[in-house]
Amino acid sequence: MPPNETWRHHRAILQQHLGKTSMVQHQITLEKHSRTLLSLLFRKPLGFLEHTRHAIGAMILEVNLNYICFYTLTLTEIHKSTYGLSIQAENDPNVAVAERAVELFGEMLVPGTYLVDILPFLKYIPSWFPGMTFKRKANEMKTHVKALKNEPFAAVKAAMKAGNASPSLVSTLLESQVSTNGSVNNGEGEIDEELIKSISAIIYFAGIDTTEAAVQVFFMAMILYPNIQKAAQEELENVIGSNSFPTFKDQPNLPYINVLCKEVLRWHPVAPLGLPHVLKQDDIIGGYFIPKGTLVMGNTRYLLHSEDVYGLDGDVFNPERFLKEGVKDPDPAFGYGRRVCPGRYLAENVLFIIVASVLYTFDIKAEGANLPSLDFTPGFIS
Ligand code: HEM
Repeated sequence: MPPNETWRHHRAILQQHLGKTSMVQHQITLEKHSRTLLSLLFRKPLGFLEHTRHAIGAMILEVNLNYICFYTLTLTEIHKSTYGLSIQAENDPNVAVAERAVELFGEMLVPGTYLVDILPFLKYIPSWFPGMTFKRKANEMKTHVKALKNEPFAAVKAAMKAGNASPSLVSTLLESQVSTNGSVNNGEGEIDEELIKSISAIIYFAGIDTTEAAVQVFFMAMILYPNIQKAAQEELENVIGSNSFPTFKDQPNLPYINVLCKEVLRWHPVAPLGLPHVLKQDDIIGGYFIPKGTLVMGNTRYLLHSEDVYGLDGDVFNPERFLKEGVKDPDPAFGYGRRVCPGRYLAENVLFIIVASVLYTFDIKAEGANLPSLDFTPGFIS
């Protein structure tokens, strides 16, 4: 989306609902889902990937941001009661649509994946022409995205009409509807329904895979660095004792957990090249002329492993580096400038509560003697 009026509208709503100060109101929800995660891990530890995806999806869902998540969650009961929708716990066709859309989205975000990125005229060649895979995939994506945008939105509207909608970003925006022509007004200016639909879809796409990947990095680091795991558990035990579970109130007293979360974001940034940006005007950087329209990618991983900032041991998982005076926070993990991730505070809160709760309750170890290799999946989200 170029930085136009539409983008500004999206951005303003996202910032209002996901800003730093809005987080306090979501923290009880995040704590609740972190406890559910613990009980699922207790019952089936080897399902930790599935459980964390579920927990993160549920957190995003319930902080009232997004009802699209319901497609990918197994929160069957909630949705049955809220919408009268019947989502199968496994192999649900709607889930498959959502997952396929996310998969295609990740693929398409990597510039240069398709020749059309370099030779834009290819977009005029019909999709039946040999080599036009990108067109067929784009068409498939369009169908999935349409379904993702429209169906949950219609479900929320129907639930509101029936008087049994839970509060959500979508319902809040719809409730503020004042105009008679079907468009929505937030009291300050007109917001159309397309905007609401697209915001809820964006939050799903942008929030779930990224946050989930960061939690996976945490699990991997804890297996590879048992001493760090132990140090974190000691802090939790000293601060919380044995009769409670970690909450956000404990956060100021848990400096080691806080720096461990920062190190997760630094050690393996889940978007190692961020998102592509485009130059709005000609520029000269370090003596190089870069023309307007050039696609530029920030080398986030390089910045977060820079010897000047983080020392010589950048490849080592070492949270204590952040305890030293003047070491920069891993901000580039969330991108740059005006497009910086609007979900970063939610992501940081989710990461904190999952890390603290899991380490307080469990030891994380590899099954058997095999340690995971340091292999990461390729793609925009790694
Ligand atoms: C650990 C988790 C996350 C990471 C590492 C992450 C990282 C990023 C990065 C690198 C960008 C590109 C910024 C740029 O263009 O320079 C971005 C954009 C974005 N993120 Fe996140 N993100 C995370 C979680 C979330 C969550 C939870 C949400 C929403 C609930 C979210 C919503 C967005 C949106 C909407 C954008 C596009 C912003 C725009 O173009 O104006 N992200 N994120």
